[in-house]
Amino acid sequence: MSSANIQKVPHLVRLGRFTFDRPVVLAPMSGVTDLPFRRLAASFGADMVVTEMVASESWLDGDAEMALRSAGVGLSPHVVQLAGREARWMGEAARAAEANGADIIDINMGCPARRVTTGWSGAALMRDLDHALGLIEAVVGAVSVPVTLKMRLGWDRASVNAPELARRAEAVGVAMVTVHGRTRDQFYEGRADWAAIARVREAISIPLIANGDVADFADADAILASSGADGLMIGRGACGRPWLPAAIARYFHDGECWQGPTGEALADVVIAHHRALREHYGPFKGVLAARKHLGWYIDAALASAGGTAPGDATEIATLRRDILRATDATTIEAGVGALLGLIEASGRAAASLHAATDRSIRAGRAA
Ligand SMILES: Cc1cc2nc3c(=O)[nH]c(=O)nc-3n(C[C@H](O)[C@H](O)[C@H](O)COP(=O)(O)O)c2cc1C
Repeated sequence: MSSANIQKVPHLVRLGRFTFDRPVVLAPMSGVTDLPFRRLAASFGADMVVTEMVASESWLDGDAEMALRSAGVGLSPHVVQLAGREARWMGEAARAAEANGADIIDINMGCPARRVTTGWSGAALMRDLDHALGLIEAVVGAVSVPVTLKMRLGWDRASVNAPELARRAEAVGVAMVTVHGRTRDQFYEGRADWAAIARVREAISIPLIANGDVADFADADAILASSGADGLMIGRGACGRPWLPAAIARYFHDGECWQGPTGEALADVVIAHHRALREHYGPFKGVLAARKHLGWYIDAALASAGGTAPGDATEIATLRRDILRATDATTIEAGVGALLGLIEASGRAAASLHAATDRSIRAGRAA
């Protein structure tokens, strides 16, 4: 156990019938955290996983994509994130989500996308806190399960009102707040400001989750230390590494720095994910959905190999291109197995080449 971890005392967060110790949450990401991805992250041991944003009004209108997004069979807790601008639809959607098995309802007040904010949903709600509060009250009043709220620091640097929104949300019954340490006008630019999240910590006594730019164990320690949050949320860091929230949860609990599956175990994960996507979306849309994940897995494997032998670069690039163009499941699966094996072997070869070069340089200096 590392010395940093020996000092870590249990830090319990209670949400309805669920109790977590410094929860590590997979962030809601539209186009990414569909049911197959959430199941995968949860199967590794993420404490909580959150649906893609579900547009409340469209869902209630019968939109098939929103219905698919809201699904959570087999997940516990099943957290549904709702977006919208009208209290009435948000309340009704929350009621429908609870009736469909949601254990927790999360409200989106952080999405920066123009098509969302121009409809006065997502982060735009931070520009009118009275309106935002009406929406929150409608959701809290509609359900018996816990309601959580996800926000940014504010609309822009001149209006950092996350502490005020969080305080008012707590007063009307919100059970937990997540803050992404950027303002809306930053979109995803620059670095998330973890210390600014501490202003929210001072404003509320309900659990606080900090979010933004967590990619490894050191970031996990740093975001909790800077923000004083009770847990953290990981988004992009989990793309190509669905085990990352679980790895960080494990690190918090026993100090182990698990780097995720390698070798055949990694290929099995990628292939199972690919199959689950085809099943979830059907073969045509499933292939398209799988491509971005396959690309992320390959990039993550390359990063984790820490470099490849120069002679392998062309073969790696060709295999990668062929996998991402293929539509046939057998070709994709065979290609994934071969490419991940090649990347690992090439990474080991590159590392021993570097070590041998270092030894000969040192020997040359000593002579
Ligand atoms: C592709 C993508 C889609 C996202 N979709 C949502 C969403 O549906 N709801 C939401 O609240 N945040 C959404 N976010 C924001 C993330 O939940 C998270 O707050 C943000 O990415 C910062 O965390 P990270 O640095 O760990 O990625 C999305 C982010 C990305 C990159």
